[in-house]
Amino acid sequence: MSALDIADHDLARFLDNAAGLAKRYWASLEERRAYPVTSGTETHRLSQRSWAEDGLGAAVLEDFETIAAHARPSGGKFFAYVAGSGEPVSAIGDLLASVLNQNVTSWRSSPAGVAIEQAVIGWLAEAVGCNGFSGSLCGGGSAANLMALAMAREAKAPANETGARPCTVYASTEVHMAVPKAVALLGIGRDNLRSIPVDGDMRIRVDALEAAIAADRKAGRLPIAIVASAGTVNIGAIDPLPTLADIAAREGLWLHVDGAYGGLAALAAPEKFVGLDRADSLAIDAHKWLYQPIDCGCLLYRDRQPARVAFTGAGDYVKVMTDDPIESFAFFDESMELSRRFRALKLWLSLQYHGRRAYRETIAEDLRHAQLLAREVAAQPDLELVAPTPLSAVCFRHRTKDNKAILRRVVARGRVYISNATIGGQFVLRACFVNHRATEDDVRAIVSEVIAAADELNA
Ligand SMILES: Cc1ncc(COP(=O)(O)O)c(C=O)c1O
Repeated sequence: MSALDIADHDLARFLDNAAGLAKRYWASLEERRAYPVTSGTETHRLSQRSWAEDGLGAAVLEDFETIAAHARPSGGKFFAYVAGSGEPVSAIGDLLASVLNQNVTSWRSSPAGVAIEQAVIGWLAEAVGCNGFSGSLCGGGSAANLMALAMAREAKAPANETGARPCTVYASTEVHMAVPKAVALLGIGRDNLRSIPVDGDMRIRVDALEAAIAADRKAGRLPIAIVASAGTVNIGAIDPLPTLADIAAREGLWLHVDGAYGGLAALAAPEKFVGLDRADSLAIDAHKWLYQPIDCGCLLYRDRQPARVAFTGAGDYVKVMTDDPIESFAFFDESMELSRRFRALKLWLSLQYHGRRAYRETIAEDLRHAQLLAREVAAQPDLELVAPTPLSAVCFRHRTKDNKAILRRVVARGRVYISNATIGGQFVLRACFVNHRATEDDVRAIVSEVIAAADELNA
């Protein structure tokens, strides 16, 4: 008998209580504020407790309500960042995955886990028009971008054995911070990430990209990769993928697409993503636009060989002892991770529970919500749109008032939560829809709350 054993009936009651908490939480989302009334002092006080020598038993669940009261609710009023809304079937899938406690390193370690993840990867690839791509699930877009650039670097300027040598990577000024971070971590150096200016639609300027590549070649440098954005974090701009694919092919460069925010919208609006299937690698985040609870990132790639080259290096202790093509598969051969959660189970359950049509329609609804907000903003004389809305992120500002002060007041009022962006050097307000719980009323409330907050500044 272990000191950690729990009697069957106690465990059953604990599970029922936890399920009750989850049910009540989901049922309460509608009435919760968009953001909790809390402070650093309060959350600090909440967490100041030593780890007791004797266990508290089932009473530990009593903290859940308090923690939830100080947590950002996953409701239909939160439009900041690119925050997916946490679909419940998927959350239950997370619980069941932990119950199974699989380590999805390889078929040897988790036969069903590997099979389910491979199946889900196939669905995701097909959903975004990249049929036949391989890949793996990971913590998020940052991890996926890092792994993609590790593959690009190893394919074009091998460094795993000899150490890094100078090379250059190209992305627009609007690329997500995950990309400069990846470039830094890989030893390429942020100075060797060329920040290419954007056009009026905030898409990478092809003429400037070609000029930058030519200038680097002339100076004897080694261009290795273009990172295209399929949904920039600020406004959702999609770089001209077919043209970038042509340039990459002509120049012998790796084409990685950061679709962590936008990529999965290809399910509902494939016409916006023509050329995605020409990428060498593609990052998508199911915890954003497939509404999965965190974490659920994904890296897809056309050819698994560069992944195997980049991530090879297994110790004897994990070596596979069969030649069977299915049973010899190991994710650690194609990923930076060894121990890996069974992330695929939540997708497997959630995607099948609702079916493909439901996901397509919900993404289409997010796209409509963004257009609705853009129209509502345009109809207000005091507000102005500051950028186009190619996907579901709407950037706008009050023409005359302090937009930072407005943002603080909107958050304090609690009806909706939006965030901010810098566009053309200006602080602007930003709402992003990747939220299956949002209604048209919530979308309209964004404008009425901004106007009300601006009026409060007068008072
Ligand atoms: C375009 C883009 N790329 C990468 C990321 C990073 O993804 P994650 O937060 O899952 O690491 C984000 C996050 O918002 C993003 O919008």
